[in-house]
Amino acid sequence: MPTLPATTPPGLHLAIIMDGNGRWASARGRPRAAGHVVGARKAREMVEVASNHGIGTMTLYAFSADNWARPRREVVTLMRLFRRTILAEQERCIATGVRLIFIGRRDRLPRELLHTIEAAEAATAGGKRLLLRVALDYGARDTIERVIAMARTIDGPVTRDKVAELIGRADHSGGAAPDVDLLVRTGGEQRLSDFLLWECAYAELIFTRRMWPDFSEDDLVQALKEFHSRHRRFGAIDEPAEERARTA
Ligand code: IPE
Ligand code: IPE
Ligand code: MG
Repeated sequence: MPTLPATTPPGLHLAIIMDGNGRWASARGRPRAAGHVVGARKAREMVEVASNHGIGTMTLYAFSADNWARPRREVVTLMRLFRRTILAEQERCIATGVRLIFIGRRDRLPRELLHTIEAAEAATAGGKRLLLRVALDYGARDTIERVIAMARTIDGPVTRDKVAELIGRADHSGGAAPDVDLLVRTGGEQRLSDFLLWECAYAELIFTRRMWPDFSEDDLVQALKEFHSRHRRFGAIDEPAEERARTA
């Protein structure tokens, strides 16, 4: 297993719930698997453009801990597609400075896929341009359960920083859990589906009806524009400058 740094590249943390592959395919009279294939290509395309738009960390929801409930045929197809995609993309990641890590459980993935993700993490460990976190067999509540079990075994107070660090250990991302700046969900649903519940505490949320295979660089630019137009207060209020000076 590679040693992962606790730091992330400068830039925004964009998280994406890549939803709508199945409906996209069904609407075209094609099997759901076809939507997943186009969805995987779309993920590759978005990774390529992300750092041109000020993104330093990107977390993509590829397979949730609850997606095991899908028909076995779809699950097997997805696991094969993940492996094929990682093998096909690894060299490009190395060449373009993309560090690949996988967050989520590792005890339920097919053995060949597990070997492939571990090898990809090791091979891309030098990437400094973009930290790409792929959530595979990921569930935030599952992570939280493991964090609580770990917290019981440590000495000292369980501070907020400690929780973030334990999340990193529990979901195998190495460093402390990075806060999400912007969360985009495609596919029209307006929910989190157990994604990054801790990390999204102050994330800006954008839900789009666009199905993931149709998502474009323009859509990403639009989402970022919307993000930059929002006013993040983190619980504080805007004090007039003279008020701030008086109380400082
Ligand atoms: C997201 O698309 C990909 C995975 C969950 C693996 P879906 O497969 O959920 O597509 P819809 O929501 O059924 O259209
Ligand atoms: C969330 O989508 C998981 C991924 C995109 C990988 P789902 O399609 O599984 O979510 P629900 O079932 O609509 O909440
Ligand atoms: Mg879905």
